[in-house]
Amino acid sequence: MAYLVSDEKKITTKRIRDMKRSGEKIAVLTSYDYTIASLVEKGGIDMIHVGDSASNVMQGNDTTVPITLDDMIVYGRTVAKACKRALTCIDMPFGTYQGDPYKAQENAIRLIQSTGIDSVKCEGGSEIREALELIIRAGIPICGHLGLTPQSIYQFGTYALRAQGEKEAKKLLDDAQMLEEIGCYAVVLEKIPAELARRVTERIDIPTIGIGAGVHCDGQVLVVQDMLGMNNSFKPKFLRHYANIGDQIVDSVNHYVEDVKNGTFPSEAESYL
Ligand code: KIV
Repeated sequence: MAYLVSDEKKITTKRIRDMKRSGEKIAVLTSYDYTIASLVEKGGIDMIHVGDSASNVMQGNDTTVPITLDDMIVYGRTVAKACKRALTCIDMPFGTYQGDPYKAQENAIRLIQSTGIDSVKCEGGSEIREALELIIRAGIPICGHLGLTPQSIYQFGTYALRAQGEKEAKKLLDDAQMLEEIGCYAVVLEKIPAELARRVTERIDIPTIGIGAGVHCDGQVLVVQDMLGMNNSFKPKFLRHYANIGDQIVDSVNHYVEDVKNGTFPSEAESYL
């Protein structure tokens, strides 16, 4: 958070909102650790999101439900250390904001205070309005999240495209407007029809950040391990692979194993004589 005194280049929530106004698209990726976050920032990213997708990617769980506040604090701390310029955001995990709104406020304060991350993200609309208002009242910026909300997987039973019908589309539009009204600085739209994402983007003044929501959103977010091709078994329609790091890791490990087994590693130059 050094930007408050010295680093003018630090991207703030205000800058993210201004980017929508000026028509500059917002590039967002997830990160869960210091090394990847440092590289992602070096690549020129605007915003780094410490997603609860860490539950899947880092912990090997099938859903985002099991990850805890304590887990998120560990991931958030390491990412915050790496980020000098990018705006940072962290997911409030399942169960930390859906119940007592005052408890939600307390959890958000703990998450921000103990990580150094700039803002939090919460999934849902009108159902969690009171909690969101209290978190904002505590001075913590919020990014909303509508459409496919993975923390509610047991309610919906599927990760399929959301808001295809007019009723769900209308609720999503109303929720997006509500998020803007109460002071959220952005909203993630996950896996909804591109045309609906366009309507939301045109209707609200805060930026929409899409994942599987088409090109009309003000910005895009992907899970960094997915876009780097570290898990070739996960290939939804919306994902573009920008590298094939998974295969490179396997090949490199293979090569290393071979070298160790046949005694060609380490060489004389790699030894202290
Ligand atoms: O958990 C996550 O990684 C997310 C992003 C995909 C937005 O919520």
